[in-house]
Amino acid sequence: MRAAQVTKLEGPESIEVVEIAEPAAFPGGVVIDVHAAGIAFPDVLMTRGLYQMKPELPFVVGGEVAGVVRSAPEDAAVAAGDRVVALTLLGNAVAETAVTAKEMVFRLPDNISLEAGAGILFNDLTVHFCLRKRGRLAAGETVLVHGAAGGIGTSTLRMAKALGAGRVIAVVSTEEKAQVAWANGATDVVLTDGRSVEAGGGTREHGETRDEHGWLVAVKELTGGRGVDIVLDPVGGDRFTDSIRSLAPAGRLLVVGFTAGEIPTVKVNRLLLKNVEVVGAAWGEWVMTHPGYLQEQWAEVAPLLESGAIAPPQPVLYPLEQTAAAVAALDNRSAKGKVVVTMK
Ligand SMILES: NC(=O)c1ccc[n+]([C@@H]2O[C@H](COP(=O)([O-])OP(=O)(O)OC[C@H]3O[C@@H](n4cnc5c(N)ncnc54)[C@H](OP(=O)(O)O)[C@@H]3O)[C@@H](O)[C@H]2O)c1
Repeated sequence: MRAAQVTKLEGPESIEVVEIAEPAAFPGGVVIDVHAAGIAFPDVLMTRGLYQMKPELPFVVGGEVAGVVRSAPEDAAVAAGDRVVALTLLGNAVAETAVTAKEMVFRLPDNISLEAGAGILFNDLTVHFCLRKRGRLAAGETVLVHGAAGGIGTSTLRMAKALGAGRVIAVVSTEEKAQVAWANGATDVVLTDGRSVEAGGGTREHGETRDEHGWLVAVKELTGGRGVDIVLDPVGGDRFTDSIRSLAPAGRLLVVGFTAGEIPTVKVNRLLLKNVEVVGAAWGEWVMTHPGYLQEQWAEVAPLLESGAIAPPQPVLYPLEQTAAAVAALDNRSAKGKVVVTMK
């Protein structure tokens, strides 16, 4: 089969498309003819050996696929011929064939294409875990998401209202990304420099600030000084302290990732004085230690996808041959929406 493989830990550029043997089927494993595979930020880190999971070289990139089942154990919830989405967590996805445990494979609703399907599981189930389990999102609350045009970001925009949020504020770095945020369901879009962007273009200033803290000024103004109930933060770095400042009383800041590179620290007096929480949200860790949780999540998310209450992802597609460029787009911050590699 053809696969996108990392042979040396030198970043996305070192990904090569190679011909290798198909992975061996194992007891309890589902064999999938892969049509498309999702790319996420951990893939960038894994190409440099910087992620917590460090597979032996060489390894195939990617953590999720969409495709058609070739064979499945009799007691699996899916059967040969089914259109499915599946997690490989992590590695072993960007290839023409994938094998993964039956508990990681789910039937894809008919209304969703395989390309869009490849962008669902990793981010949507992370966001579901963040908002439901760790963030305790209540009906009508306001959610703010950083990196809103990224994978986790667009997933939050697509899902938050279906999970009960009243308002979803997107924070992005460029006007082009602002349009991606609008297209994915944001109710307000703010640039990091503090200007808000209207749907269809045009910006508006808030106050006098025009720097990296500008977004906080804008969000305070947009919420009438109250702040937001939940911040979902996949970026970290200098967003962090301002994110605490942006919280309403009893607000929750969800720590999801550190694409900015720097791992922030928290002065706990800020939590005391404002009655707010900083909450860790590591979905993969939760899934590995809570058997049955994935199924519980899919049972709630799948009907919402099927009914259209959660819109499918609108992925940016790259052919298999351009996997290095697909992963590099996340590395160099140019990706606009979920990135998906197509095999067929
Ligand atoms: N906790 C969990 O369970 C879990 C699960 C999945 C992923 N994650 C983490 O969530 C984070 C986001 O993943 P993703 O797949 O959504 O990534 P992504 O698609 O690349 O989006 C990340 C966003 O971060 C922002 N960003 C700010 N500084 C950046 C920089 N120096 N380089 C690149 N991006 C930068 C960008 O938005 P702007 O340009 O608009 O600022 C970008 O759109 C990663 O850290 C990932 O490891 C965590």
